Amino acid sequence: PTSSKTFNDPFSIVSHEMSNLAKSIANLIGSGHPTLNRVSSYYFEAEGKNVRPLIILLLSKCLLEIPIEKRDRIPIDTEDVNTQAYFRGTPPQTSIAGNSVDNSMSPLAILHGINPKVILDPLSKPMEDLPQFENVNGILPKQRRLAEIVEMVHTASLLHDDVVDLSDSRRGRPTGNIAFTNKMAVLAGDFLLGRASVAIARLRNPEVVELFSTSIANLVEGEFMQLKNTVINSNEDVVINDGEKKSIPKMTGKVPTKQHDYSVKAPNDVDHETNVRAAFEYYLHKTYLKTAALMSKSSRCAAILSGAHDDIIDNCYDFGRNLGLCFQIVDDMLDYTSSEKVFGKPSQADLKLGLATAPVLFAWKQRPELGDLIARKFDQPGDVEIARKAVEECKGLEQTKIMAEDYRNKALENLRKLPESDARSALEFLTNSIVTRTK
Ligand code: FPP
Ligand code: MG
Ligand code: MG
Repeated sequence: PTSSKTFNDPFSIVSHEMSNLAKSIANLIGSGHPTLNRVSSYYFEAEGKNVRPLIILLLSKCLLEIPIEKRDRIPIDTEDVNTQAYFRGTPPQTSIAGNSVDNSMSPLAILHGINPKVILDPLSKPMEDLPQFENVNGILPKQRRLAEIVEMVHTASLLHDDVVDLSDSRRGRPTGNIAFTNKMAVLAGDFLLGRASVAIARLRNPEVVELFSTSIANLVEGEFMQLKNTVINSNEDVVINDGEKKSIPKMTGKVPTKQHDYSVKAPNDVDHETNVRAAFEYYLHKTYLKTAALMSKSSRCAAILSGAHDDIIDNCYDFGRNLGLCFQIVDDMLDYTSSEKVFGKPSQADLKLGLATAPVLFAWKQRPELGDLIARKFDQPGDVEIARKAVEECKGLEQTKIMAEDYRNKALENLRKLPESDARSALEFLTNSIVTRTK
């Protein structure tokens, strides 16, 4: 099905899968604990952009066009015993360590609304039967599951991120930490990660397991690269989110907050240009880790599951990487230009959080004196306003947009190496719309 049609609705090609996404995820995250259920499903209720699953599904559909001779194997492994078991769903576990499980509700369980059977074996409910290869729009069941997993990992990271960032709104609603407390938001994020890990393991592909595990580690590495003064934050944190009036004990460990920080004043023998270059390098590496790693590695997984040859797998990885970098650079731009109402989350937040993203780095390139403000994380009165004005006068946002367009163009080049198809056109449209998005 080659076509030169242009798609203005990338959603439509995989609308069936996309409309089932929430339901499928709900099946993966059910627990016997009602409160845990509420917190872990909270971010899925207010529909996000679902851009990650959309990419995985469209890419999977693109990969279907790869000719058989460019695959290591035809990706129908229903003859594999593990895959068969996976398709059928796992039978309920009836014994734990040799002792049979009492499925009846204990009085305690009834009192707390907890179902012990589900708690003991959360996956005792057979997994939703996955449709057979032929009738799933050409997308493999494992690739569909991949789309669900990537959204689960992303959502887990958002629950944690909003705690770390002291954020109070997301997707137009109060954040998990505000709606349920920090503690529950962190635990629900951990739970989602745990369940995502089970689902990853059930794809029965060690390479996919390794890629996902690494991308989860990468998210944390990226967050560490942009951490700042932890003590002040955690103090506010407790008061805001748990209403606990007690002050936190003084930290005993030493946290070298500036150790990995490019914004420390340059040694005298390093010239401004070199310093700025290092700052951009740091920024892009951080951006890769916190945003592009998950997109690139999950795109790679989609290609691995399709059975494609290594060069195609590498190309899919590069596509996800370039798209992910583009996506986050645009996000950093929107932080300056969007409103909370449109963005669905706090806007104009990065400078206040002490973060020097691309727009202010471009301004610094032209105005070396901004280095002091960046180094002190804009914490003096007036710093944020000075930085914002400098960004405007130095055309920091325009330059940031060009940078994002650069990565978009690279992502489009990657796409052009895939066979032409409707799904590819849809991905091209999606790639273009990432730069022009407003939220
Ligand atoms: C959003 O960035 C945050 C991320 C992309 C990653 C956050 C990762 C962690 C908190 C580490 C823990 C990870 C896991 C897997 C549980 P942002 O704050 O710039 O975006 P925002 O404006 O949407 O908040
Ligand atoms: Mg953050
Ligand atoms: Mg955040």
